[in-house]
Amino acid sequence: TIYTASTTAPVNIATLKYWGKRDKKLNLPTNSSISVTLAQDDLRTLTSVATSESFSEDQLWLNGKLESLESERTQNCLQDLRDLRSKLELSDKNAIPMSKWKLHIVSENNFPTAAGLASSAAGFAALVAAIAKLYELPESASEISKIARKGSGSACRSLFGGYVAWEMGTKADGSDSKAVEVASREHWPEMKAAILVVSDAKKDTPSTSGMQLTVATSDLFQERIQNVVPKRFEQMKQAIVSRDFPLFAELTMRDSNSFHATCLDSYPPIFYMNDTSRQIVKLCHQINAFFNETVVAYTFDAGPNAVLYYLQHNETKLMAFIYQVFGQNQGWELKFSAQDLSAFK
Ligand code: DP6
Repeated sequence: TIYTASTTAPVNIATLKYWGKRDKKLNLPTNSSISVTLAQDDLRTLTSVATSESFSEDQLWLNGKLESLESERTQNCLQDLRDLRSKLELSDKNAIPMSKWKLHIVSENNFPTAAGLASSAAGFAALVAAIAKLYELPESASEISKIARKGSGSACRSLFGGYVAWEMGTKADGSDSKAVEVASREHWPEMKAAILVVSDAKKDTPSTSGMQLTVATSDLFQERIQNVVPKRFEQMKQAIVSRDFPLFAELTMRDSNSFHATCLDSYPPIFYMNDTSRQIVKLCHQINAFFNETVVAYTFDAGPNAVLYYLQHNETKLMAFIYQVFGQNQGWELKFSAQDLSAFK
């Protein structure tokens, strides 16, 4: 008999960035972070898993290609899931002994892998969630998020929809470093996101090595994690709970700028944003000044692509402005993604 399960996990985009680890093996962060999870049917990873007594080895097909499962991160995730399953088998004598069987995993992204579009987040979240489903694990999403975190830090946040906080925790074993829901998607249905794909080339410096370099060499980074982010974390949660877009937008833009400043302050410096990214930053500030209202917020991850957050009722005027300035075919493509994108499809 072959047992199977499938699930999708959407991409999440941090509005308060995770950058820096206090423990590399467990992916324990130096600061708490906050993100918005995009709509399920937009940018996402779809993962199906199968297990059977007859399988001879664990195997992974990623976007149609056979990939290695050897990485320590993946092995940690598989081990934790098997441990939870064997605990369940011990307590329930009728449970099928699948914790000892090999797994076949098929995973597919509907967006470019490693283009700074948070593919590892959706990837590990879907992998862990699919196996947890196959194993019928009773643990909560926060509990499962700790396993996804070991795969890729930001993956823990993709276990939830809507507005999500990753609480950094203080324990050395990581047992309190988990994702929790700040608010559901329905809490603020007006919120939308647009991704301006500046480049879908593979990113320059992978986030893991990038953050290691920042932690080791940037002075500004210490200021960020000690004096800036803890306060901002509370303010941003409050902005979400009270649906205060101007505050949410300002904190999001400031945090993106602060994160990229620590990259620039690393030695040698790391550049994720390019000229087009900087033009987008300027344009967003110009749009907000022009309308004398906070219409849009930008944020950039470990790559040049921009993610814009805005409220639905401002979509037409915002997009009119962006098209006016950049046009639709200026060497970069405009790609929309949000909590409800039907308008653009
Ligand atoms: C800039 O989660 O990809 O997107 O834990 O090493 O896998 P690892 O890093 P990863 O880093 C994400 C960095 C970021 C900010 C964020 O998503 O919070």
